[in-house]
Amino acid sequence: MTTATVSRLPGDVAFWDEFLAAVRPRLGETTKFTREEPLAAKTTIRIGGAARLYAEPGSVRDFQTLMVAAAAAGIPVFPLGRGSNLVVPDEGVAGLVLALAHEAWAGFEPRPDGLLWVGAGLRLKNLCGLAAKVGLTGFEFLEGIPGNVGGALRMNAGAMGGWMFDVVEEVRFISLDGTVRTASRAELHVDYRHCAELQTAIALGALLRPVAPTDTESVARQIDVYKKKRQESQPRDPSAGCIFKNPPGNSAGRLIDQSGLKGERVGDAEVSLIHANFIVNRGSATSADLIALVRKIRKRVDDAHGVELEPEVLLYGKEWRDVL
Ligand code: EPU
Repeated sequence: MTTATVSRLPGDVAFWDEFLAAVRPRLGETTKFTREEPLAAKTTIRIGGAARLYAEPGSVRDFQTLMVAAAAAGIPVFPLGRGSNLVVPDEGVAGLVLALAHEAWAGFEPRPDGLLWVGAGLRLKNLCGLAAKVGLTGFEFLEGIPGNVGGALRMNAGAMGGWMFDVVEEVRFISLDGTVRTASRAELHVDYRHCAELQTAIALGALLRPVAPTDTESVARQIDVYKKKRQESQPRDPSAGCIFKNPPGNSAGRLIDQSGLKGERVGDAEVSLIHANFIVNRGSATSADLIALVRKIRKRVDDAHGVELEPEVLLYGKEWRDVL
């Protein structure tokens, strides 16, 4: 059966049902594929509605099947990592969410040549811990970034003066047409919190270059230093990490703080009292609350400092410029 059998419109429940029914038989048994999957619990800020279609592909082949079928039916595809830098709209996502939750993508394989292969679904916390155990150093700064490798590549995530692409040799990714490709660091267009190629493709894994091997104790010590620093300066309540990018040469957190916004609230969305560039969910915040608060912050910081803050978190399935 092909997706040509899907004849209804995307606003129509049957459109999504028929897509699922047509594609499900072509997928492996371990691939999860569902309708109306709630997404809030799959994000760290715990906001938002359901995915019209949701899959956890268990193989490259299933990734390809799903992506090619979605493209043929005109269905947009959205990768989902750890959901740590993500705000899901209250109405959910009109598309196919592809999550790297299957164990097939959580690989951690030190190689004889000293490089390290990691799957895109591997959590940064686990990468950091496993590397420390085998004495591979250079990944300590990733401790405490609550994402996985795929999300960190897409966002070029960073902390403690380092960012993901500092340690990347090459990335394996799958494009929207289902083509799998490996690109070296030099071939990729990488910037602060951005990797151009991964805006339209999904990372499957990466080859990383550790710094020279060292003793496991000093790696563990460095991880502890970063952990302590972060625990003192960042909130533990549900959040999506830093909400805004740092403007060149400045700190969004400081600007928001200096604008008197700590504790500012819309519904259950609140500017953290600990770090002003975090919006925390105080219970049952909605994406509408969060967007209203983002608007308020941008206006106040612009009025007080003449700086237009740009959101860092993704608004899933939408563009910030359409809601701000
Ligand atoms: N500051 C304030 N008030 C606040 C928060 C910060 O005055 O409420 C001041 C601090 O005192 C400091 C300066 O602002 O002088 C910078 O703050 P911080 O050291 O916390 O760093 P940051 O620039 O706010 C960046 C990343 C974080 C990362 C930390 C630690 C961005 C947008 N943020 O924060 O990344 O964890 O450095 O390395 O690049 C993220 O991207 O989601 C994220 C949390």
